[in-house]
Amino acid sequence: MSDLINKLIEDKSNSLPHTSSEIKHIVDISHNSNHFDDKIILWLKSVYKNGMNRSETINYTDAIISSGDKLNFDLNGYIIDKHSTGGVGDKVSLILGPILAACGCYVPMIVGRALGHTGGTLDKLESIQNYNGLINLDKFKNIVKDVGISIIGQTNEICPADKKIYRLRDLSDTIDSFPLICGSIMGKKIAEGIEGLVLDIKTGNGAFMVDFNQANKLGEFLKSIGSEFNLNVDYLVTDMNQPLGIYSGLLCEVKESIDFLKNENQSKDLFELIYKLGLRGLNMAGIDNGEQKIRRVLEDGTAYEIFCKMVHAHGGDIDKAVLLPSASENIIANSDGYLNIHNTKSLGMSIDALSLGSNNDNYKKFDPQSGFKLYKKHGEYVNSGDRIAKIFCSDHSILSKGSFIFKKSISILKELPTLYKVIH
Ligand code: URA
Repeated sequence: MSDLINKLIEDKSNSLPHTSSEIKHIVDISHNSNHFDDKIILWLKSVYKNGMNRSETINYTDAIISSGDKLNFDLNGYIIDKHSTGGVGDKVSLILGPILAACGCYVPMIVGRALGHTGGTLDKLESIQNYNGLINLDKFKNIVKDVGISIIGQTNEICPADKKIYRLRDLSDTIDSFPLICGSIMGKKIAEGIEGLVLDIKTGNGAFMVDFNQANKLGEFLKSIGSEFNLNVDYLVTDMNQPLGIYSGLLCEVKESIDFLKNENQSKDLFELIYKLGLRGLNMAGIDNGEQKIRRVLEDGTAYEIFCKMVHAHGGDIDKAVLLPSASENIIANSDGYLNIHNTKSLGMSIDALSLGSNNDNYKKFDPQSGFKLYKKHGEYVNSGDRIAKIFCSDHSILSKGSFIFKKSISILKELPTLYKVIH
């Protein structure tokens, strides 16, 4: 077995394409044993460097799907999902999922944990006490049918290969690769048994695709791979040159999502993104007057009610989802000028620093209370002494590391910095 993996690593290092059975072999080994993790990482590194062609990428995506079950729903409504390529403060799935369900769609959503500097939807949901995001597939299907939405992570039953490879990519810094992103995102989404998918392709200094053209190319690529599997895909390229919304972290993002669903404290950027992505999804589902429908399910409380029902069905205790960090520090402007967020990626890493960054065998463990709140957004004028942000967590001793990283990611300029549209 080891000989074959060595051959595949060598072939990929020499840019030789793999056959479909070779790809299936390496994907199967990745999740069936921990014995070859070092080899799988070497293979990931050679794919990261030399890529895979279109047919290899299709075979890779297929191998990820068939590493577990592929669902098949028989429901009286359009089955849809949305997924983002990852960012900082990106809590859109927590908000848009319940909105789409409240508008009459069904949303069987499989998400990941934190990847690189970006936050993971599963980690955020698990910051709600007792939320179980690793339920079995029968329960998952029942919650989708009864509530309209269920959000889980990859499990041993569905996309086990992505569960494993996702973690190895995180450890080996092999994230921003078209074929690896494609296998990971499209593998999960196709396995869910959905009819339509809206992708939020992030671009900017806090995204894996820093450059807009690359992001757009990735969107087109994922859309075309979707069509190979009869999945209708639409996408928007959206801004990640600053954290999305007000809060970034774990429970604080759940709090902001709950506020949004209650139609309260909606930041401008998050509002625009939710409506634009939501409209794309409802169009796909053949639902007219999307904007009015989204507004209605927010105003009449149905979207919030669905979120609460979903959390409850997963065992989560929403009443205990209270943001009460015991340690915090304000980030204060030390001069007058315009706030320039020049490194959103490192702002994401400041959350790691505030979370003790401890590693479990399988994934990073976060402090649910960790994160930051932005009082000022990129390009806003600040006076010396103004509060720009507050960072928080459960441990005073690590605040200084978090604040050091945070402060390095921002500056105050005399000239207005480049401003970015929410949707590119
Ligand atoms: N989201 C995923 O699920 N996988 C990736 O590779 C990137 C973002």
